[in-house]
Amino acid sequence: MASTSSQSEIEIVNVFDALAPPSASAFASTSATSSSSPLPYNVFINHRGPDVKHKLATDIYNVLTNMGFKVFLASQDLHLGDFFPTELQQAMSSSSLHLAIFSPTYAKSPWCLAELSFMLKTGTPIIPIFYRVKPEDIRHLKGTYADSFLEYEEKGRYIHKLEEWKKALCDVSFYKGEIVNTDEEKRKVLKNIVNRVLEVTNIVPLEVAKYPVGLEELVADFEMTVSEFVKIHSHVQVVGIWGMGGSGKTTLTKELYNKKCSFMKNSSFLFDIRNAAKKNELPKMQMQLLKDL
Ligand SMILES: Nc1ncnc2c1ncn2[C@@H]1O[C@H](COP(=O)(O)OP(=O)(O)OP(=O)(O)O)[C@@H](O)[C@H]1O
Ligand SMILES: [Mg+2]
Repeated sequence: MASTSSQSEIEIVNVFDALAPPSASAFASTSATSSSSPLPYNVFINHRGPDVKHKLATDIYNVLTNMGFKVFLASQDLHLGDFFPTELQQAMSSSSLHLAIFSPTYAKSPWCLAELSFMLKTGTPIIPIFYRVKPEDIRHLKGTYADSFLEYEEKGRYIHKLEEWKKALCDVSFYKGEIVNTDEEKRKVLKNIVNRVLEVTNIVPLEVAKYPVGLEELVADFEMTVSEFVKIHSHVQVVGIWGMGGSGKTTLTKELYNKKCSFMKNSSFLFDIRNAAKKNELPKMQMQLLKDL
């Protein structure tokens, strides 16, 4: 019995060691143009399941996914058999924004603490959400936060990680965050989070057409045709649309872009290349493309 429990503990410690800071190549592998890597996430939600899973965390998840954002909420996105840390690392590294929900039993979970520490190392913006706890509790390890760390120390668990986790909690407690104690505060926080996500992901939809007709069907048709084509010619990275002047090619691409860009870490829409070429402005367009991506 004893050897089984220490074995599982050793495995868990190794798993936390595997949560190393992302290297440049780790970021490169999440590029939207890589066909084998998973799509990047817009938002990663770090939370303690028993406290907020069926409350605040799911509400945030639902509001954002209904708006078309790709959100990672552990266990909604992890499938049985996935190698846990790799999937988590990819989700954290690719997200444009991290939300950390601090709740009363947050520090009881070594997973939450390890994720938080990793999130800080990525340099991605983090919004702390203090759910029925105060920033001071986290900064100075009071109440349940103190109890959890004391328990780790007494049981000699994760000893080489504790200082790092304490520092992560202290650092993040100074970030501009949100406080949620009541339902009314929750409504306000949901609105603030939506605004912050829009701000960070920098999404301003392109104006498509004054009176759009049948665009949804047109885009669905187009996507279906392209995906069938790519199944046969998997190396294809660029798609051109050819057709009569004024038949709606640009309109179709704008609609497609609006639909897709919230799923991409970065995106770019360059207008009227034909005109830019005439005016010798192609280098300017290239600069714009590099800047956007
Ligand atoms: N599905 C649509 N619903 C409403 N308006 C549309 C639709 N498709 C195109 N239009 C309108 O028709 C006009 C021409 O469309 P668009 O500019 O997309 O054509 P195009 O094929 O890109 O033309 P060009 O070959 O000159 O670049 C625009 O004013 C656009 O708003
Ligand atoms: Mg056009």
